[in-house]
Amino acid sequence: MNLAAIILAAGKGTRMKSELPKGLHRVCGISMVELVGRSLKSAGVETPVVVVGHGGDLLIEALGEGYDFAWQHEQLGTGHAALMALPALEGVKGAVMVTPGDTPLLEASVFAKLWEVHQASGNACTLASANLSDPSGYGRVIRDSTGLVIRIVEHKDASEAELKVPEVNAGIYCFDLDLLREVLPKLGSNNAQGEIYLTDAPGMMAAAGHRVESIVFKDEAILMGVNDRWQLAQAAKVLRERILKRHALNGVTIVDPDTTYIEPDVEIGVDSTLEPGTILEGATRIGERCHIGPNTKIQDSSIGDGCTVLMSHLNEATMLESARCGPFANLRPGAILGPGTKVGNFVEIKNARLGANVGVSHLSYIGDGEVGDRTNIGAGTIFCNYDGFRKHWTKIGENVFVGSNSTLVAPVLIGDGALIAAGSVITKEVPTDAMAFGRARQEIKEEWARQWRDKKQSS
Ligand code: UD1
Ligand code: CA
Repeated sequence: MNLAAIILAAGKGTRMKSELPKGLHRVCGISMVELVGRSLKSAGVETPVVVVGHGGDLLIEALGEGYDFAWQHEQLGTGHAALMALPALEGVKGAVMVTPGDTPLLEASVFAKLWEVHQASGNACTLASANLSDPSGYGRVIRDSTGLVIRIVEHKDASEAELKVPEVNAGIYCFDLDLLREVLPKLGSNNAQGEIYLTDAPGMMAAAGHRVESIVFKDEAILMGVNDRWQLAQAAKVLRERILKRHALNGVTIVDPDTTYIEPDVEIGVDSTLEPGTILEGATRIGERCHIGPNTKIQDSSIGDGCTVLMSHLNEATMLESARCGPFANLRPGAILGPGTKVGNFVEIKNARLGANVGVSHLSYIGDGEVGDRTNIGAGTIFCNYDGFRKHWTKIGENVFVGSNSTLVAPVLIGDGALIAAGSVITKEVPTDAMAFGRARQEIKEEWARQWRDKKQSS
């Protein structure tokens, strides 16, 4: 049987106080709707249909491929929203999962469980619920004496007796698609809020003699919908801890979970250690036996085995095995450190490939160039890559020694084994094994200093 899905994300989310549609707010770097979409996909859904309204264009642009979209121009209620998604599912057979788009903590296992029960039972609707000590605000699940669901009643429409029911509707349902098609157009809005409730659909199916079952989930996180920025922050905390725990159980040492932030797609090898203040984002991959942090931010970068990153910022950078950087290195997009290469304090590298065992230990800017194996770049070396109009390339060979405080004006080539005298301004090609110096020669004036002092003291 196929599993289709509808994500309801047309609501305004007024309490977020934002220009951005609610579903696009990020939890651990991923938008809420995408987190829900990912869980659905892991549970077997190919292309979820996202119902959009407020900020719909932004949602469509952000989610892009891998999703279908349906517009709900007026937010007339969850039942109406689901109805709007039906044309996108034309010709699809089987079951459909309907879920809110503001529940970033929903895991695939919740959808998988609902679907499993749904298939095994022949239910018309299988829904998720939880028992709460304070159920107020939520829809209540009303069961018959055999335990099957008769209907769901919204808080505002519930009787005194119904308000006492602790079992609440999580808003996540698996429906038989054909039956849903039959029922949705018949839903009315004769209720306290004047809305077309999706919660009336299970009731209508039950009244027609179909089985509606409710699965009680123990983990209250299934109810953790986000309505304001504080709830967004709380959800991020929960998801963050889940991610940290996954890595810890996979063999990563996390020295201080309270100050370590890892986004969902980051990969980390065994026996790596994350010191306090480590932030790993995007498609970052860290190898085995690495030492990262403290106070380090790494975005979309690839770090090989046995690397050390100490108090540094990396963005779209690559470090090959046993390379190290920091403290205070800034590796910008296209920075590549070869195996065993060392980049020290206050060094910025952009769009430049350093070979194996290169040393750039202090206070340098390496931009738009390449540096051969075993070359040493002295303190204060600057690649002058920009002439005010265009960027130019600097190529330094292997086993080169660049003396401290050298200025390499690109485009320029320095051959293998060359030596650049400290303080040089290099503007022309330096041949292999040559020595180049481009600075004023030193002059010595014997006794000059003493005479000058004597003159000053006697006047
Ligand atoms: C809903 C359920 C309630 C349940 C609760 C769980 C209904 C009528 N009630 O209430 O039983 O306990 O979820 O959190 O369904 N949306 C649209 N279009 C609309 C209205 C809503 O797309 O016209 C979307 C919202 O963006 C949101 C989701 O549907 O993602 C849920 O809507 P919301 O208004 O938050 O429903 P609740 O009042 O929380
Ligand atoms: Ca809600």
